[in-house]
Amino acid sequence: MNSITDLQRAKRQGRVISMVTCYDHWTARIVQRSEVDCILIGDSAAMVAHGFDDTISATPEMMAWHVRAVAKGAPDKLIVGDFPFLAHRKGEAAAFETADLLMKAGAQAVKIEGLRGHQEILRALVESGVPVMGHLGLTPQSLHAFGGFRVQAKQRQAADQLVRDALELQTLGCFSVVLEAIPNDVARRVTEALDIPTIGIGAGPDTSGQVLVLQDLLGMNPDFEPRFVRRYLDGSNLFREALDRFACDVRQGEFPAEKETYGCSKSSTA
Ligand code: KIV
Repeated sequence: MNSITDLQRAKRQGRVISMVTCYDHWTARIVQRSEVDCILIGDSAAMVAHGFDDTISATPEMMAWHVRAVAKGAPDKLIVGDFPFLAHRKGEAAAFETADLLMKAGAQAVKIEGLRGHQEILRALVESGVPVMGHLGLTPQSLHAFGGFRVQAKQRQAADQLVRDALELQTLGCFSVVLEAIPNDVARRVTEALDIPTIGIGAGPDTSGQVLVLQDLLGMNPDFEPRFVRRYLDGSNLFREALDRFACDVRQGEFPAEKETYGCSKSSTA
């Protein structure tokens, strides 16, 4: 799957879409060889790759470097680059600058959190040929406004508003919408109301697709165990065990072995 039309066709054909985040080149090469449909270079890079507590510290330049590394490693996947904190709220010129950076770095589409207050910017980007994925529910850039990473749209009024917002994103021309940390019923309502695909994270089984942070599904952070994550690997322990074996071999003089060294060629004098 390497275009937004492939993604939209998947929804029409009832094929469920799989998406993972990715931030670096060597991991992208593994995703490229996998069955996963598409890649989000999320601003979660600020947390996962740079160690910040939230996504607020991501910048357009940071995102562009990650997009560039991933796009080179996964040429056959749809690559979506995330707009970082406030990049779409500093006026049209700044939003275009960010879209320009991300797409020249190799993204085929961008993802933008929220709706209200930047509708015109969304419209202008779409009309300029920038495919935009929306993002509603728990939009992590608004973490401090929400008072923490909390499930959204639990009350009837908020749920109704979220359905209306999703419809408006579709009207503005978004090709897909991420739904994060909302009740299953609300995600189902949105998915049924929209023609464009919904991609859920912590939004239950009834969305058009699912996205997870790659390091979460690989179990790379043993201290992070939210309800919506399924671990497919005990990555943290597997990596550590490999490192321990290397350190042990080095200490005991068992690495490198003869076959892991270079000899001089007999004819060489240098
Ligand atoms: O930045 C990110 O990783 C995201 C996903 C959680 C959807 O926005």
